[in-house]
Parts: sequence; structure tokens; C-alpha cells
Amino acid sequence: MTDRPKGLRRRLTDYGDPGFSLFLRKAFAKSMGYTEAELDRPVIGIADTGSGLVSCHGTVPALIDAVSRGVVAAGGLPLAFPTISLGEPFMHPTTMLFRNLMAMDTEEMIRAHPIDAVVLIGGCDKTVPAQLMAAASAGTPAIQLVTGPMLTGSHRGERLGACTDCRRYWGARRGGRVDEDEIAEVGGRLMPSAGTCMVMGTASTMACAAEALGMMLPGSATIPAVLADRMRAARETGARAVALAAEGLIPERILTPAAFTNALRVLLAVGGSTNAVIHLAAIAGRCGFALDLERLDRLSRETPVLLDLKPSGRHYMEDLNKAGGLMPVLRALVPALDLDCLTVTGRTLGDEIAAAPEPWPQDVVREADEPIYPEGGIAVLRGNLAPDGAIIKQSAATPALCSHNGRAVVFDSLADLTARIDDPALDVTPDDVLVLRNAGPRGAPGMPEAGYIPIPKKLATQGVTDMVRISDARMSGTAFGTIVLHAAPEAAIGGPLALVENGDRIALDVASRALTLEVSQATLDARRAAWRPPPPPEGAGRGYLALHLAHVEQADRGCDLDFLTAPRTGTAVPI
Ligand code: FES
Repeated sequence: MTDRPKGLRRRLTDYGDPGFSLFLRKAFAKSMGYTEAELDRPVIGIADTGSGLVSCHGTVPALIDAVSRGVVAAGGLPLAFPTISLGEPFMHPTTMLFRNLMAMDTEEMIRAHPIDAVVLIGGCDKTVPAQLMAAASAGTPAIQLVTGPMLTGSHRGERLGACTDCRRYWGARRGGRVDEDEIAEVGGRLMPSAGTCMVMGTASTMACAAEALGMMLPGSATIPAVLADRMRAARETGARAVALAAEGLIPERILTPAAFTNALRVLLAVGGSTNAVIHLAAIAGRCGFALDLERLDRLSRETPVLLDLKPSGRHYMEDLNKAGGLMPVLRALVPALDLDCLTVTGRTLGDEIAAAPEPWPQDVVREADEPIYPEGGIAVLRGNLAPDGAIIKQSAATPALCSHNGRAVVFDSLADLTARIDDPALDVTPDDVLVLRNAGPRGAPGMPEAGYIPIPKKLATQGVTDMVRISDARMSGTAFGTIVLHAAPEAAIGGPLALVENGDRIALDVASRALTLEVSQATLDARRAAWRPPPPPEGAGRGYLALHLAHVEQADRGCDLDFLTAPRTGTAVPI
């Protein structure tokens, strides 16, 4: 125990007179109706990410109430505070541009206020990574709570979920197999409740990763947003936050290299989102650890996909929750997990697995000897097109395209893609390789989820549903296809993707992890000598965009801002 000031006595406003600072703070707090006795309690901050522009956080007000009940019952003082919130479909150009801004906001609000422990309420894709990055840097006890997934919808007898089925139906619309009336009908059925996307997209993946890291109460990653269980988990989270404050259990003790290794293994076993690789690299970077892509690939080769859940499988998050949540996955992985990792409960991961209810028959999580995919969902590719790595979600790719040699059809930017992809005169065949560049962390800017390049309309209408696609962009975790992402370094800073020309041959071989531009080095050298960087994006000279462009790191380092990462310890993850 330390004798650091607690509760409202912490982090007093600087007036040069601490007694006056506390007197004034309490006086203002009393103006909100608090009593002296309440103001002596430990302060539990609750990061409020409710927003009219974040549909996935629609239940945050109710969650804050439930957390607050738990905090009060455990003897704490719950004080909610707003932070930036990021809703995937509502932001331009992409939420990823603002993840680091949210992380900075959250960290600084935790640091600046008299908060003894904080409950981080997130959910939509970038919010949980931003909050975990903040927690790793802030040095204050923290516990994650997610809003939880939506329930599934139904259309003409078919079960639907966001956003794997959004993309499937939109592809059918582009291919002329679904008409205007039906696509409008589907649009009203895809998301029938509050919550996050209910497939293993980035939100679900990061919720599972947060639980595997030990930053969330066991069993709470998968509970649907609108169930009473979600409110009970919120109440328990609030109560646990009070204990965390008393114990002084800071994230640094939980976010160890072994914990990141556990989380990366879970990411692979659940067929999780490729975006989680970037986010876990960023959170690890806040702890001084580097993500080693070669080791991640080795982990992938020995970790089968066990979860039969979209987009890699059949089921949805509510099915996983009924099957026992993340626990059956953790149980199946026990021989490969580090069970000594400490969690926010104050117990180890092994303790929590041992204490979980006995398993029951279910068909959502497979045993390790009968996986739905023999390797991890994500493979790391190397070659002269991506010297610092690229990744592919092999579990959601077309097997026949995973070894492919095709002619490059290059799009220079997102604007170029939009202008030409559906041009009937576009010279493209189903065997070609679609290349999108200048869509990386600096290029786009913000590395949007543009890697899911649409199939050119003239091919879509012929029934083509997948092609090899390569970019320095990201892809939604809910998407599927033979799609190579995160090519690093990105084209905008002169990465090799910048040198590809229409008609070049590109070879992809996922089994050997090779991504090769079949052009001689002499030709590439000549192209490099003639290469000029693209013009800066509009608004590049001021504000947060200027900060982002000057400091954002590449995908293999998590796209954090270079001044926010911790000094590297020399330790790499996974171990
Ligand atoms: Fe928020 Fe999918 S859009 S989780």
C-alpha cells in the first residue's frame, strides 16, 4: 500500500494551496448534491462513450447506471466523464484516423482527474483499443466493459448479422441478384437491436482479446448488449473497480508479454479480425513490447481456428454466448496458454478457467482436434511487395485463390478506385489482382477499411464473388475474401506497392507466406528513381491531422503516434 492521496484528495488543482484546492473541489462537488461522507469514498471514474453518433453504444447510459450501482454497493463514488467516441459508419474518412486521439483523450482525462480506478465502457471497433491503449499508459487501475453484441435479425426466413451479411447482400445487389426494394428491406433487418456487430468483426474480436488479456471480467466479452446479464456484468464491473482501487492493481501488472501472447492466440483461434493485429501491436507498444510478425505467423501455424462463427464460420455472437462465451475457447487452448497471467479479478487466468461452470454440449466452439480451419485465421506474408509484412485472413479467403498468379490492375488512390472500378471499359478479368495503394496510415490518411475492394461491376454481374486483392489499407473484421492487407511500408512513403504498374505479374502463395511482384530489381530501381510522393491530403497543414501525419507509425507497429509509445524494452510478443 502507498500513502498517496486517495479519492478527491488526488491530483488537486494547482492554486499553490492544497488545502484551498480540496476545500474548493469539495464545495463544487457538493453543488452536485454529494454529502461529505460520499466525497470521502474512492472515486471510480466511468468513461462515458455514449453518443448520438455511435449507434453501437446506445446502451451506455444504462450501463453507467449499472456500473454506478456496483460502485456504490462496494463503497465507492462513481463519477462518469465523457470522452471522444468513435462510430465506424459515422466518421469520415475513417475512425482509425481518430483512434489515437481517443486514446490520448482518455489517458489525459484519467491522469488529470482524481480517479482511483476507472471503468472503460467501449464497444465499437476503435473504442476498446483506444481505451486499452490509454489504460496501458495512464498507470491507474482500469477495467474494461464492452457494450456487447447485437442480437441477430431475420429476412424472409434467413438469419442475418452485421456486417458480414451487409457485405454479402451488397455484393448481391452489385451483381444484380437483389433488387432495390429487397436491399432496402434488408437494410432495416440487419441490425435489430442496440450493440456491436454480432459476428467476429473487430468489436467482438477486441472484446475477446480484452478478456484474454485479463482486462475484463471473465465471461463478459460475449453477452449481448440487450440482455439483463449484460447489466449484471456492468454492476459486477463497477464493484470490482472499487476493489482494484484498494488493491492498486494497475494494468502494467496485467498487460505482460505472456498476456499478449494469450490474447494473440485467442485472436487466431476465434478467426478474429485482422484489425486486432494492429490494435494489439499498439497496446503492446504502450507497454514497451514490439509485435513480432514472424512469431505471430508461427503461432498461427500451430493454432487452429476453433470458433464456428461468421465471417469464418456459421454462427453469431449470441450463439457463442449461449455456448459459454469465451470460456470454451480458453479451455480448448489451455495447453498453449500461460495460465499464471494475472487478471483484473486479482486471480490468474488459470484460476478463472478452473472456477468456470462445467462445459455443456454445444456446436459453436470445436475441440482442438476437430477445428474448422487447421491453422490460425491470420497468416503473415512477406516478399518484395511488403518487406515489413502484410497479412491475410486465410480462414475467410477462397482456398483456390490462396495460390494465385495474376496480372495487376492498379488503383492509385481511393478516389481513383471510386472513379474507375465500375467503368465498363476497365481492363479486368477474374484472374487479375486488384491493387489499391496510397490507402495506408498516412496515404488515405488513417488507413481506412478500403482493402475490401469491390469486385468490378462487370465481373460481379457475371457471378464473380472473389478475386485476389492487395492494398496498404485495412479491412473490416466482418469482411471476407482473398484479401491481402496492411502491406508495409505503405505506398505513400515509398513502399513497394507504389512501384506496381498495370500488367505486372503478382504471385500470392499463402502456404509459403509469399507475396511477390514479378518484376526485376533493375526495373523496380528505375521506377523508384522516378517515383514522387502523392500530394498531402486536404487539411494536412493544421490540427490533429497534421499531428497524425507527422507522427503515425506503420501498420506493423500498430499505427500509434510515435510519441505515445513506451520506450521499447527489447521484449517482443508473442513470446
Ligand atoms: Fe460498431 Fe460494427 S459498427 S461494432
